[in-house]
Amino acid sequence: MLGRIAAAWKKAKCPVLFSGAGMSTESGLPDFRSARGLWKQQPESLATPEAMFGQPDAFYFFYQWRIARLWEVAPNLGHLRLAQLEQAGFLQKVITQNVDGLHQRAGSERVVELHGTLRTVSCLSCRAGYDSRQMLPARSDWEADYQEGRYRRGDECRCPRCRGMLRPDVVLFGEGLPEEAWTEAVRWSRQADFFVVVGSSLAVSPANLCPLWAVERGARLLIINAEPTPLDDRADWVIRTPAAEALDRIADEVLISAENP
Ligand code: APR
Repeated sequence: MLGRIAAAWKKAKCPVLFSGAGMSTESGLPDFRSARGLWKQQPESLATPEAMFGQPDAFYFFYQWRIARLWEVAPNLGHLRLAQLEQAGFLQKVITQNVDGLHQRAGSERVVELHGTLRTVSCLSCRAGYDSRQMLPARSDWEADYQEGRYRRGDECRCPRCRGMLRPDVVLFGEGLPEEAWTEAVRWSRQADFFVVVGSSLAVSPANLCPLWAVERGARLLIINAEPTPLDDRADWVIRTPAAEALDRIADEVLISAENP
């Protein structure tokens, strides 16, 4: 099957990839809805503007914990192979729901971040932007702090310039997607003739419309996901292999066959 997938991918004029949290679990970051997902340990309600203003300590601890983890991990083989496919001209765009920046750290340049990024934070008052580590307490032993609940309280996560409230540059539930990113994602989803979904439950809209638009335009659809998704029955291929291994093997087939046409 991988040979047929690689042949179709190689022949495609506009291959586009759509990634979710399952792309980064092999880097050590939890996803959200699988058995060990974040929303099994914390309520989704933490990722809302209501929590940011109504439960600041819980909100800021949750995001400090995620930010600390973010800077401890590295891109995995799947991220690296996608960057190679982009450089070889076999991937036009990565549309990601992830906020971890691992596609870019692996070398992918053509990336649309639909849900913002956890690599930076911004001041709600003066709009100044900072590396998200600005929000962390000046300690390195974050796990111990986490265990003992030592973290910056909500009212301590302040802008060094104007003392305004800092917020992570992610899209919270109930907020609109960044307009430019959304417009680009819609355009590339409608232009794609080969669309790959990797590591997403396709549970969150409007992001989950992207693969649908591609299929409706007649694109071939490959889904690489450990668990069933609502679009499996619209897919040409569904692979349950872990993302990094699947992408590594497919990239081998695409790139090797490209060297020996
Ligand atoms: N290989 C393949 N699939 C995997 C792997 C892996 N190594 N690890 C996890 N998965 C699958 C899980 O089985 C799950 O179906 O990836 C999927 C991840 O789904 P979610 O946890 O729902 O993550 P995602 O689809 O990215 O969520 C979308 O929801 O909470 C919001 O803003 C958040 O961007 C996120 C959005």
